[in-house]
Amino acid sequence: MTSSSRTVSPNGGARVELRALGVRYPNAAAAAVHDVDLTIEAGEFAVLLGPSGCGKSTLLRTLNRLVEPTSGTVLIDGGDVRERDATELRRGIGYVIQAVGLFPHYTVAENVSIVPQLLGWDRARIDRRVDELLALIRLDPAEYRDRKPRQLSGGEAQRVGVARALAAEPRVLLMDEPFAAVDAIVRASLQDEIARVHRELKTTVVFVTHDVDEALRLADRVVVMNAGHVVQTGPPGEILERPADDFVRHLVGVDAETRRLATERPLIER
Ligand SMILES: Nc1ncnc2c1ncn2[C@@H]1O[C@H](COP(=O)(O)OP(=O)(O)OP(=O)(O)O)[C@@H](O)[C@H]1O
Ligand SMILES: [Mg+2]
Repeated sequence: MTSSSRTVSPNGGARVELRALGVRYPNAAAAAVHDVDLTIEAGEFAVLLGPSGCGKSTLLRTLNRLVEPTSGTVLIDGGDVRERDATELRRGIGYVIQAVGLFPHYTVAENVSIVPQLLGWDRARIDRRVDELLALIRLDPAEYRDRKPRQLSGGEAQRVGVARALAAEPRVLLMDEPFAAVDAIVRASLQDEIARVHRELKTTVVFVTHDVDEALRLADRVVVMNAGHVVQTGPPGEILERPADDFVRHLVGVDAETRRLATERPLIER
């Protein structure tokens, strides 16, 4: 397998800014996202971390307009996402979720080509792109391009989901608990994979998890959320060494020293 990945995305990443962002669902007692100001730099790997229901997915989904904010603004490279056509916006933003959602009757290659096809790329360019992406996620194109999703392991299907999200060279990649459904060993290898892909592509990644170790391991910057608020943002070392309050201290502090070591070597099941 050749590594052609350096040519995979010439685009780099986009800067993402949230300004006084609020989301309140109809009839909800409290806001799901409350007055969030956050800048994610171009090419940064940001991880939203926090307990179930704290608003991580809601915040993430405002970026590709699957959720419309009730107040505030989302800017991508300085442009308000509300001024973009939602469908066109989404084609330029990769999105990976826990339930991979590959089309069962499509082959791996067809699943990966969905967005390039919608964008009207020619056949040769699409074929090249599919092979390039399968190589990037370390699935041999000759062996995998014509398989159906049912002929893949859970981890392989999840990697195809990542390839599909990257197909049209998005400058922002959104990942919502993408590895939550696989076992710890596979999850560790998928984490290595996405860390390497990010190093090579420099795409801006916004990754959601409630797994502290996963967040500390992958993030350039951790964004800790609680009850709709962003309570702290910073590099993993800073979150561990200087938690902003008791909530963060409890979240990461069970065994901060062990975690610090764990972020420096491959994660194995503990
Ligand atoms: N479509 C919706 N309509 C109404 N309320 C919603 C909707 N989606 C989410 N909520 C509520 O908004 C809050 C935040 O939900 P969200 O899905 O963003 O949390 P989360 O941090 O992603 O949680 P999890 O880790 O469980 O996925 C929760 O109280 C949830 O019940
Ligand atoms: Mg969620």
